[in-house]
Amino acid sequence: MQSPVYWHPKLYAFTMKRLYGIHYDTRYTHLQKVIPDNCQLLELCMGDLLFHDKYLKGKNIKYSCADINPIFVNSAKTKNIDSVLLDMLNDEIPKSDHILLQGALYHSIPDQQKFIAKMFNSANKQLIISECVKNVSNSSNGLISMLGAFMSKAKAGQSKIKFTKETLKEAFVPFEKNIVQWIEPADSMETIIVLEK
Ligand SMILES: C[S@@+](CC[C@H](N)C(=O)[O-])C[C@H]1O[C@@H](n2cnc3c(N)ncnc32)[C@H](O)[C@@H]1O
Repeated sequence: MQSPVYWHPKLYAFTMKRLYGIHYDTRYTHLQKVIPDNCQLLELCMGDLLFHDKYLKGKNIKYSCADINPIFVNSAKTKNIDSVLLDMLNDEIPKSDHILLQGALYHSIPDQQKFIAKMFNSANKQLIISECVKNVSNSSNGLISMLGAFMSKAKAGQSKIKFTKETLKEAFVPFEKNIVQWIEPADSMETIIVLEK
């Protein structure tokens, strides 16, 4: 069953704030810096659209997005944003110059390498991934741990956030020659990876 935090963008945003705490803003500000101005960008798993609404403003980006959750896709449509309902693991991923995936690579475990290759294949220029390497589902704080476990159940499949610094590194071994940026900001829970053609 889908976690209730995915029932409304505001509920989702509230949960994310509690989960990330003081690292909430930095997960976006570091990512903002690697997105080029004036590009064509497809964001997979855009969730509540916060990154688009707050951090891509002024970058003159031709933006589109896709998610498995019809609530998020419909919410984007009401903002006149080009949005598609899709299952990124099983459906075809539309081509775009740049493809972005934030906080959702764990949904592809255990087929993460196959899935990275699939996204990279659909990117004409760059694939940009930002992924949490701190397992909030296993936090010692009861509330955070519960929220983390809830968060993970987006629809079907993966129910734990499992990447660590080490397993994320392993996932990208086949793509080493395409990695142009690997950023581990000290003040963020997410690692940013940019693959280029
Ligand atoms: C943890 S949220 C991340 C959302 C947003 N990118 C962020 O960082 O705040 C995971 C998102 O992935 C979406 N999702 C999960 N599995 C998916 C799939 N197979 N295909 C497309 N979207 C999926 C969920 O609906 C949700 O919006």
